[in-house]
Amino acid sequence: MKKPVRKAVFPVAGLGTRFLPATKAIPKEMLPLVDRPLLEHAVDEARAAGIEDFIFVTGRGKRAIEDHFDADWELYKTLQERGNTEALEAVRACEIGPGRLFYTRQQMPLGLGHAVWCAREVVGDDPFAVILPDDFVVADKPCLQQMVEAYQEVGGNIVAVVDVPRDQTQRYGILDVAADDGRLAVVAGLVEKPKPALAPSTLSIIGRYILQPEVMTHLGDIGRGAGGEIQLTDGMARLIGHQPFHGLRFSGTRYDCGSKVGFLEATLAHALTRPDMADQVRETLKRYS
Ligand code: G1P
Repeated sequence: MKKPVRKAVFPVAGLGTRFLPATKAIPKEMLPLVDRPLLEHAVDEARAAGIEDFIFVTGRGKRAIEDHFDADWELYKTLQERGNTEALEAVRACEIGPGRLFYTRQQMPLGLGHAVWCAREVVGDDPFAVILPDDFVVADKPCLQQMVEAYQEVGGNIVAVVDVPRDQTQRYGILDVAADDGRLAVVAGLVEKPKPALAPSTLSIIGRYILQPEVMTHLGDIGRGAGGEIQLTDGMARLIGHQPFHGLRFSGTRYDCGSKVGFLEATLAHALTRPDMADQVRETLKRYS
């Protein structure tokens, strides 16, 4: 019996330096794609995949995140009095139920692996998902849901992967592939940000993971890796050979909201999926082609 995945970790402690000055007083995860913060899109994706417990790894200057996912009775009352049901529904939809939202802090920016490790006490002995809100995925079936379905088949650990041009391997965690059926790749090894010439493949990890709790023990003692940081990839690599480990080529498109142009493209891609604005956006874009 595979234990269901009900917990998700959202590492949101990053400084967001690439988006300064916009991120001086606003966490970068609160920058909106159209009218909802990036982090809310990530939470929605998790909800759709059956996640019940949400674990945010935050840091200094991230209080806006707590307020966003909290109830705001004054605002609800005002909107209700004004009869603005649409806005009321939109704000109520961000709430995460009582006792289902956990905050833990990463006090030092020691890397993604360290951020995930900061959630170990809340994760406990359960399998869990990790979502990096910077990676935004447009898909008919949400990416994490596709991963949960694959997990029900093969269990163990699953990372979402895309094929990237070889000259980009240095930006990602890269798979060494033992077997590949075109959808699921059996992972023989993992390397964080290898130079193109040294990359074992071009299959790269995007910010969606399903992991077994044993990874936490490894994250606690691997030490620093690429870029002098404690890397999630290095912790995961230690599981290979002990637990099933697969890469899933999900269907959908991933946008890198960690870069300015990627963020802009994600905004457009999202807007074009929205019935309330897609036609108008398409018309507007014609003026710029
Ligand atoms: C992190 C991971 C990397 C992964 C990437 C996906 O890197 O360390 O393995 O491929 O996210 O976005 P970062 O983008 O934080 O440098």
